Amino acid sequence: MLDPYGRTISYLRVSVTDRCDFRCVYCMAEDMTFLPKSEILTLEELDRLCTAFVRLGVRKLRLTGGEPLVRRNVMTLIRALGRHLESGALEELTLTTNGSQLAKHAADLAAIGVKRVNVSVDSLDETKFRAITRWGKLPQVLEGIAAARRAGLAVKINTVALKGVNDDEFDRLVTWCGAEGHDLTFIEVMPMGDIGDDRLEQYLPLSLVRARLAERWTLSEIDYRTGGPARYVRVAETGGRIGFITPLTHNFCESCNRVRLTCTGQLYMCLGQDDDADLRAPLRASESDSLLEDTIREAIARKPKGHDFVIDRRHKAPAVARHMSVTGG
Ligand code: 5AD
Ligand code: SF4
Repeated sequence: MLDPYGRTISYLRVSVTDRCDFRCVYCMAEDMTFLPKSEILTLEELDRLCTAFVRLGVRKLRLTGGEPLVRRNVMTLIRALGRHLESGALEELTLTTNGSQLAKHAADLAAIGVKRVNVSVDSLDETKFRAITRWGKLPQVLEGIAAARRAGLAVKINTVALKGVNDDEFDRLVTWCGAEGHDLTFIEVMPMGDIGDDRLEQYLPLSLVRARLAERWTLSEIDYRTGGPARYVRVAETGGRIGFITPLTHNFCESCNRVRLTCTGQLYMCLGQDDDADLRAPLRASESDSLLEDTIREAIARKPKGHDFVIDRRHKAPAVARHMSVTGG
């Protein structure tokens, strides 16, 4: 699949649920209203949709949420999707998780052919972790991460940089990830969804984070890419890698290879734009997939050039109204 700007679309991110057992301050309001179950695609429908995308050329599939592992029987879906790894149609099947349920599922994930997982950890301090996630328990997450590693999964830690909240912990995170052998990626907070707080207060440009890290660590640019927007450096002292995802200070849209599917079957062609295509109607309209495939092709044909995220005093409202838990980052 080629979009109008010549970008090959080979990566699909699928939010399998908008629900989560955490309420991270930058992601959700404390009392969130979730979608009624009737609107949500069944696991069979999600499988059919993902399979159509694989047929059209998607090589990498990432399950997100909300928290993907809180969806009931989600392992049934993951096991089904594993057949595309076996056939070679799919190069990679992976997930972004908060880690709370990882201890339970790590071995099964590895057996299905999942090779790596992204786990969000914004703080290594139990009290602060609880404050950021509102409901999360750090020891449970760390146990999940340990289980993933024991099962042979590579782990990448995602840390959202939050001014005045976790910016005193970046060195500690670098040390920990280096010692444990996890990759580490810092993410700039993006203006998505009403979270009932002033996001300007949270925004910390990663150019600053990187400059501060460089005072303590020897960082050198490396070519390593995971097919995502992160730019990586090597930390000489630990041998580890650090990635930076900078949607606001640096626009990476020109190399975008991805689209995002919500758990209700809306396809978002860009994380930072509101335009979406409904795939649920064509999916449910017929048993054959030809209508669905046509709708997917039409949607890719209007993938926008890029996002226009800005966080400043004149743009108080979120750039996009939906929460990150709808499209899963
Ligand atoms: N800005 C940046 N990152 C976010 N995440 C969730 N909401 C936001 C936001 N508004 C992160 C989570 C997770 C990933 C899926 O997206 O921490 O690591
Ligand atoms: Fe849940 Fe992830 Fe959102 Fe936190 S960032 S509330 S873990 S979906």
